[in-house]
Amino acid sequence: MEIGFVISGANTKQFQFVIKDKAKVGDYVKVGTVLGQISEIEIVNEHLSDQLAFVLGDELLNHYPIKDNLVRIATVEILGNYDPTKEEKYVPLTYPPEPGSKVFMAPLEEVKDLLNILEKEHSIDVGTLRGYKEKIFLDVEKLIGKHLSVLAMSGAGKSNFVSVVIDELMKKGNEFPIVLLDIHGEYLGFEKKYGKRTMVYPHHRIKLSFEEFEPGIVRDLVGTTEPIEYLLTSLIQGNNFQSLDELITYVEGIKKKSKEVKALEWRLKRIKQLGLFQDTPFPSLEDIKIGSLTLFDFSEVSDNRKLSIYSYILLKRLFEARRLNKIPPLIVVLEEAHNLAPEHAEAKLSRRIIEKIAREGRKFGMFLIVVSQRPAYLSQTLLAQMNVQTILRITNPHDLQYISQTSEHISSNALKQIPSLVPGEALLIGYARFPIYIKTKRRDPKIEEVRNKRPYQMLSEFLEQDSLY
Ligand SMILES: Nc1ncnc2c1ncn2[C@@H]1O[C@H](COP(=O)(O)OP(=O)(O)OP(=O)(O)O)[C@@H](O)[C@H]1O
Ligand SMILES: [Mg+2]
Repeated sequence: MEIGFVISGANTKQFQFVIKDKAKVGDYVKVGTVLGQISEIEIVNEHLSDQLAFVLGDELLNHYPIKDNLVRIATVEILGNYDPTKEEKYVPLTYPPEPGSKVFMAPLEEVKDLLNILEKEHSIDVGTLRGYKEKIFLDVEKLIGKHLSVLAMSGAGKSNFVSVVIDELMKKGNEFPIVLLDIHGEYLGFEKKYGKRTMVYPHHRIKLSFEEFEPGIVRDLVGTTEPIEYLLTSLIQGNNFQSLDELITYVEGIKKKSKEVKALEWRLKRIKQLGLFQDTPFPSLEDIKIGSLTLFDFSEVSDNRKLSIYSYILLKRLFEARRLNKIPPLIVVLEEAHNLAPEHAEAKLSRRIIEKIAREGRKFGMFLIVVSQRPAYLSQTLLAQMNVQTILRITNPHDLQYISQTSEHISSNALKQIPSLVPGEALLIGYARFPIYIKTKRRDPKIEEVRNKRPYQMLSEFLEQDSLY
C-alpha cells in the first residue's frame, strides 16, 4: 500500500515523507529496498506559520479552509537495505532515498525477519509488536543467551513479562530449569498451574552448613571491622572447627579478651541466634531438573542483609553445581536485583557472586534474568553484562541517564520514548540489530498473585478482620 512520497533532505540514516494515507509512529515503511521505521510525525499548515497566525489570529481561521491544507510529515529512521538473497540481508545505505520516491507500508514478513521475531523451534510467544496485531516470537537463545535485564519503574509490568517468559518455557516442558528468587512472592501462582514441576522453598528452610561459613558472612550479616575480620580469619585458618558452636566455644574460652575478641564473640552469637546454620546444607539444589521451576520465597524476609546472604549461598551453590555439571544449564531470575547487587552499600557477597555469574555464567550455561525497578542503584558491572535489555516505562531521570550510560545500543530517540510507555509496553534492546517496541501479553490469570491491591481494598480487608475481635 502506497502511503506517501519522500521529500528533500534525506540522508543515509533518516528521511522524511509526506503522508498521503494512514501512517502512525512506530509503523515500518519501505522505499525501494530501504526499510525504516517512523519515529515522528509532524502536522504543518503553510497558512498558519507563526508570524501570520500572530498578526491575523481568528481572521485566518475564518477565511482559510485550514483542514484542507494540513500536511503530515513523517520522519523515518532507516534500518537498512533489504536483500533477502544475500547472506547479510541488511546492509547500511551508501546513498539516500531520492526525493519523490514512493513510500509503502513494509511487508510484515520482512520486518519480522529483520527483527528475528518469526516463530521458530526455540521461540516463545510473548505478545505483539506495539501498534500491530501481529504476534511476535522471541528466540530464547537470543533473549537469554547473553543474559537479560528487565528494567522499569514499579507497576510498569516487569513481573508480568517475566511470568510470561517463564510460563512459555514451562509450557514447552523440556526447557531449561528456572530458579527464581521471589522477593515479593509474586510468582507463587506457578505452583497452582504446574504442580510438582514447581518447587517452592520458603526462606526459613534454607540452611547453611558450617563448611560454607566464611568471614564475609559475618561481615555482611552483622557488620565487622577489619581487625575483627582479621581475627576471625586467623582463628578459622589456625583451627579445624567443625561447627559454629565449636568456634563460639573456642572464642568464649579465650582467657584474656581483647576488644576484638569480645566483639567477635558477640557477633558470632548473633549469627547463631539467626538459626542459619545446621549440620547439612539445605536444599542441595542437585535435584533441579529439565522443565522445572524452583522458587525461593523471600517474601517474608524483611532484612536486606539476610536476603543478601540467602541469595549468596544459593547462587554460589548453583554456580558450583553447574560448573561441575551436576545440574543442567539453567536460567536464574533475580527480582529486585538492586537489593542483591547494589552499586553502592553492603551486600558485598551477593553482589560479588552475581557479578561473577554475569561475567562467567554464559560460558557454562547459567543465564541471568535481572529484574529491577531502580536501575540507578544496580551494579554497573552487572548491568553492563546484560546484553539484552527489556525496558518498560521509566520516568525517573537518574534511572534513564544510568541506562543510557550503561547501554551502548540505546539511541537518544528510543530513550525519549521510555517515559511514555504504558504498562506492558517495552523496548527490547540488543535482541535484534534494531530496538523493538513490543506489547507484552498479560500473564495467565491462573499464575497471577494479586499483590497490587487498591488502597480501599486493603482498608476494607483490615476492617473485616478487625470486626472479628
Ligand atoms: N502486558 C500488560 N498489559 C496490560 N497491563 C499490564 C501488562 N503488564 C502489566 N500490566 C498491569 O500493570 C500491573 C503491574 O504489573 P507488574 O506487577 O508486572 O509490575 P512490576 O513492574 O513488576 O511492578 P513492581 O515493581 O511493583 O513489582 C499489573 O497488575 C497489570 O494491571
Ligand atoms: Mg514486580
